[in-house]
Amino acid sequence: MRDTTSSKRVPHLTAGRYKTAATSLGHRPLGPWTFDETVAATFPDMLRRSIPQYDVMRQAVVDLGSRFVRPETHIVDLGCARGDAMAPFVRMFAGANNYVGVDVSSPMLAVARRRFRREIAKGYLQLRPLDLRVDYPPGHASLTLCVLTLQFIPTENRRRILRTVYEHTAPGGALILVEKVRGTGIELSQVMIDLYHRLKAGHGYTAEEIECKRLALEGVLVPVTSKHNEEMLAGAGFDGIDCFWRWMNFAGWIAVKSMRARRAGGRSGRARTESPPEI
Ligand SMILES: C[S@@+](CC[C@H](N)C(=O)[O-])C[C@H]1O[C@@H](n2cnc3c(N)ncnc32)[C@H](O)[C@@H]1O
Repeated sequence: MRDTTSSKRVPHLTAGRYKTAATSLGHRPLGPWTFDETVAATFPDMLRRSIPQYDVMRQAVVDLGSRFVRPETHIVDLGCARGDAMAPFVRMFAGANNYVGVDVSSPMLAVARRRFRREIAKGYLQLRPLDLRVDYPPGHASLTLCVLTLQFIPTENRRRILRTVYEHTAPGGALILVEKVRGTGIELSQVMIDLYHRLKAGHGYTAEEIECKRLALEGVLVPVTSKHNEEMLAGAGFDGIDCFWRWMNFAGWIAVKSMRARRAGGRSGRARTESPPEI
C-alpha cells in the first residue's frame, strides 16, 4: 500500500511553504469535478502534482506580470481559489495596490480569507464570491490574472469575459492567461495527454486516481486550442499577445492593452462578433 504522506518521488514537493500542506494523493472524485472542501484543503499539493513545471509557470507569471503593475491600480485574480496567483504580488507591492480576488467556490474563498486576513483588515484586498459567467468586479486593473480558470467556464461565455477583462484593463495594462490546451489534431492531442498522465504518475498519482480525475473533469474542464485562445484574446481587443510558457497541453499568454487604447472600452476596431467555440 502506498504511503500517501510521502512526496519522495517529487523532490520539489517538500520545498518551501507547502511542506505541511494536506496531500491530494488518494483523492478519487466520484461525480463531476467541484472545488469543494476536500479540493480546497489539498489544493496546493494537487497543483504541484498536476501542473507541469509548476514553479517555472508561477515564477514566469510573477516576473512578467510585475512589469505591468502600476501603483494605485487594481490587481485582479479571476478564479483566485486560495489566492496562489495573487499572493506573490501582494507580497511584492503590498498597500501600493488594491487586490481583488473572485471565485464561485465558498471553500476556496474561506481558505483565501484566512490567508489574506491582514490585508483584508488593512482594506487593500477584497475577496468576492462572484460567478464570472454573469458578473465581473468593478474597477480598472493594471494586471489581471486568469490562471487555470477560463478552462472551467463554459466556452460560450469565454469571449465575453475576455472582452470584459479588456474593458477593465487600464491602457498599458495586461492580462495573464494560463490554460490547459487541446492539441491541434486528435493524434497529437492524445500524445500530449499520454505524456501528461505519465507526468502525473511520476508525481505520485496512481493510474486509478488519474482516470477518476479525468472522468470527473470531462465536460467541466474544457480546453480549446492555443490558436483559439489567441484568437479570443485578439478579438477582445488586446494588441500585444505572446505565449510565455508552454509544456505539452498547458500554455500561458500575456495579452497587453495598448497605451493608445481609449480608457472607455477602447477597442482597436476589431469585429465584436462571437464565433462558435473551437472545441
Ligand atoms: C484551477 S482553479 C484556479 C487556480 C488559481 N487561479 C491559482 O492560480 O491557484 C479554478 C478556479 O476557478 C473557479 N471558477 C470556476 N468557475 C468559475 C466561475 N464561473 N466564476 C468564478 N470562478 C470560477 C473555481 O472555483 C476554482 O477556484
